[in-house]
Formats: sequence, structure tokens, C-alpha cells
Amino acid sequence: MEGFNTSRLWPVVLGLTLLTTLYADYPETRTTKPDIQEGGPVQVVIFAGSGVYKINKNIYGHFSEHLGRCIYEGFWVGENSSIPNTRGIRNDVVAALHRIKIPVLRWPGGCFADTYHWKDGIGPREKRPAMVNTHWGGVTENNHFGTHEFMDLCEQLGCAPYICGNVGSGTVQEMAEWVEYITFDGQSPMADLRRKNGREKAWKLPFFGVGNENWGCGGSMRPEYYADVYRRYQTYVRKWSGNHVFKIACGSYDENVDWTEVLMREAGRAINGLSFHYYTVPGGWRDKNSAIKFDEGDWFETMKLAGRIEELVGKHASIMDRYDPEKRVAMIVDEWGTWYKVEPGTNPGFLYQQNTLRDALVAGLTLNIFNRHCDRIRMANIAQTVNVLQTLILTDKEKMVMTPTYHVFDLYKVHQDALMLPIEAESRVYRYKDEEISALSVSASRNEEGIIHVTLCNLNPGKSLPVILKIEGEKSPAFEGTFSVSGWVLTAETLNAHNTFDNPQAVKPDVFKDASIEKGNIEAELPPKSVVLLVIK
Ligand code: AHR
Repeated sequence: MEGFNTSRLWPVVLGLTLLTTLYADYPETRTTKPDIQEGGPVQVVIFAGSGVYKINKNIYGHFSEHLGRCIYEGFWVGENSSIPNTRGIRNDVVAALHRIKIPVLRWPGGCFADTYHWKDGIGPREKRPAMVNTHWGGVTENNHFGTHEFMDLCEQLGCAPYICGNVGSGTVQEMAEWVEYITFDGQSPMADLRRKNGREKAWKLPFFGVGNENWGCGGSMRPEYYADVYRRYQTYVRKWSGNHVFKIACGSYDENVDWTEVLMREAGRAINGLSFHYYTVPGGWRDKNSAIKFDEGDWFETMKLAGRIEELVGKHASIMDRYDPEKRVAMIVDEWGTWYKVEPGTNPGFLYQQNTLRDALVAGLTLNIFNRHCDRIRMANIAQTVNVLQTLILTDKEKMVMTPTYHVFDLYKVHQDALMLPIEAESRVYRYKDEEISALSVSASRNEEGIIHVTLCNLNPGKSLPVILKIEGEKSPAFEGTFSVSGWVLTAETLNAHNTFDNPQAVKPDVFKDASIEKGNIEAELPPKSVVLLVIK
């Protein structure tokens, strides 16, 4: 439990206790005692023998839109660029994303998706028609990065493509033909057109989104209307040449539970995944924070808002549970992250923001929540991979820098496809003025080799957090003789520490030395404002 105002903690604990009683085999991470404010170490029990759900690797997915400098400059520099590239895609960015094992990439939007006409982005580049990117800065889009380039990018990254189709301003036929163009191996007008454009073999397309934010930028629809539109469009998203498409319906955002209710009721049977969007916007949409210039009050608010996603996911999931108790329909959090003011002097429509230690804590906290809710959440896509919003990578011409958020994804990649282990954790209050949240965020998993990974965040920037980890359960390495603990830590001196092109290593993981085994338990001291990975084997 984290990011909650602790005055709201007890109903949640009670709710979880009730849930655990109802579904005795469902291991839930829970807080057992009221938050301890001061004093001894916080106890965290990890039930190493009780895992049920796998942490789908796609929880570590990404989202990249035709927005600002994400696709153009971030990924695509063109074949004639002096920046080292493979068929126009920059090599340094591909290598960096390889390292963190990017599992899935969502494209081309976002709001852009419902304005995008895919046929403008195929064929000889110099002949492709231009368009105006009306959502993002009103800039001219030359369509040089289209379907072939995106599929090539995914092949270079070794990740699954997730394409979002145009419902808002596109036709059913256009959507149907896009899927045929990409996935059909036989003779057909679309498959032949693909071959004419240089790709003989059909691609595999595992994920397809039927529109984006259709309650807003994707057509301002009511849920009843969209539910019918979804049913109609998805009918023509065919399974060509044995390619099974996992169909993702546009889901809700924030507190808007009505959308989830209507979609599950009216279209649930035709949905494989229902999306959910949540952005952490300290200061609010009208008075957003600066990414770099902020104080502890802003830090606290950011952690509190980021932690709210657990409560929101719970609300939407409980509606899904009513219609789909077997959890067949996945929750797909295909946009999440921090949203601040753009960097001074940059195009306001480009959403370019710096990324500090604060963002690293938001990422660590959020990914711990997703891990713990992996029974329902089976994909998440941080917004956005390069140069936009809570980015992992910043580029400036030939230069590239990895952000603190990137390093969290690097540390957390060990959870990909591992078995989520239930946890029972005490907590520790982080108080700011008259508000408080829990300082500790934690999740744990065991991989196929039996190695246990625990990721912990101390959200409190002023106090270190001592923890005692008890590993319980038959499959625990503690029961099989000796075991060892090692780890990594990501922290910095200042709240707003960040990496720049001149100082790219200001925030980076270090070996964690403050963990040891004492009387069969692991004792660790989490530094203030830190993300820690423990490796237990
Ligand atoms: O990620 C930026 C924008 O945020 C996306 O285009 C849209 O879906 C959301 O509102």
C-alpha cells in the first residue's frame, strides 16, 4: 500500500482482508499494522512459496507517438543522417532500449492515432503526402516514418508491435485494410501492395488498439456510442494467416468508472484488453510543476498523486471483476507517467520535459503497483520513450542521455515474466506538513532460476528507512541452505538531480552495500529518496 493518505489506509486494509477471506488462494500484498512513524526497522515478509500470477513482461512496455521529437529525431533520423543509423533508425537509441529489454511498443498515438491515415505512410518516402499534426504543435508531418519503418524498428528492438488504429476520423475499411496489409501472407490487394512496397513476408501483429481516448481527442464519444463503434470496428480486425490479434478497446482514465462499466457491459465479450490512462500532474493541469525547479512540497504531492493509481486501478478492476471474474480481459495501462511544464524555450506542443530523481521514484512506485496487480494488469506503456513527457531517453542531434527513469526500468527488468510473490509489509509514514503517505513501496518476484528480486522505494527524501526482510515459504532459498543478498541503489544528493548532455552520469545506479543477512533475515537500510533492487539467491 503506498501513496495513500494513511487516514484512508484502514478501509483499504479491511477491504483487502475481506478480499483475502473471500478468495483465500489469492495472495495479496497487504499492510498488517498501522504505519509506524518512528523507531525500529519496518518488517517485510515475502511469501516465496505462494506466487500465483506471472508479472507479464509487457508491464515494462513503452509508448511512442508522432509528438514533438519522439519519433522524428528520437528514433528516426533518416538513412542519410550523419548520426549512426540502421535504415534510418538511430543505433544508440535501439541499443539503449535493448539493454532494458523493451518488450512492446505502442504507436503511432495517442491523440495522433485518431488523425492518422496509414496509407499516407507507405511507398517511396519522397512521394508520401504530408499532413499537419493538429494535436501536437501544428507542425507538418512528412510521413517518412510509417508502417514499414515502425515494424522495422520493432524488429531491431526485438519487441512486440502494438498499433493503435484510427476510429475518430478513419473508416472501418481503412482499419481492416491496415491489419490485412500487415498480416496477410496470401494474395490480396493489400498483401500485394505490401510486397510492392518491399516487404514480401507478412509481419506478426500481436496487439491492436481500436482507437485512443475516444471519450476525448479520439472523437468525444459517449461510452454507449463508443461501445457500439468498438463492436463494429473490431469485427473487421481479422485473424489473417494465423495471426491472432489481441484487441484493445479504448478504456477510461482517472475516476471515470462509468466508461469502464458501460464498455464491460456492452462490449466486454469482444474485448481482450481494456486500456486505462493515468498521468501524474503535480500542480494540476492549469498550473503544472516545472520538471526541475520544485521543492519538497511538490515532491510530496507528486508521490501522493503517483500512488493514487493503485486506488484507481482498484476501482476500475473491481468493475471488471463483476463482469469478468475469471480475469480474461486484461487491463492495459497504455499511458502513464509524469506531466510537467515543458522546458523553457521549447515548443509547448512538443511536451519536452527534463527527468529527475523525482521521476525515478514515480517510476519505481508505479511499477511496484503494476507488479502487485499483475493478476489484471498485463501491459503498461510509459509515456513516452524518447524526448516526450516522462521519457527514458533524451536526444540532442547526435547526443543521447539516459534519464533516471531509464535506470529504474533497467533495475526492474528482472521482474519481467517472473512469478509475483505476495508480500506482507509494515509501513512507515512520510509526513509533510499535515499530510502523510507511506514511505515504503515494495514488490517481489521469483524468476525461473529461483532468484528472488525485491524492488523497494523510500519516498521520504529526508530519512533513511531500515527494513527487515523475512523470506517465508517452502521454495525460499533460505530453506535450502545458504543464500546471499546483493543489490543496486539509485539515489542522489538533491531532489532534482538529473542527467544532462554535459553530465550524463549524475544519476545512475550504484552497488548497494547496505544489505546483509542477520539471523536468517535480510536487513537493509534504504537511503532517503531511493530506489533499491535486492537480488536474493
Ligand atoms: O501522451 C500524450 C497524450 O496524452 C496522448 O496523445 C493522449 O492519448 C493523452 O491524452
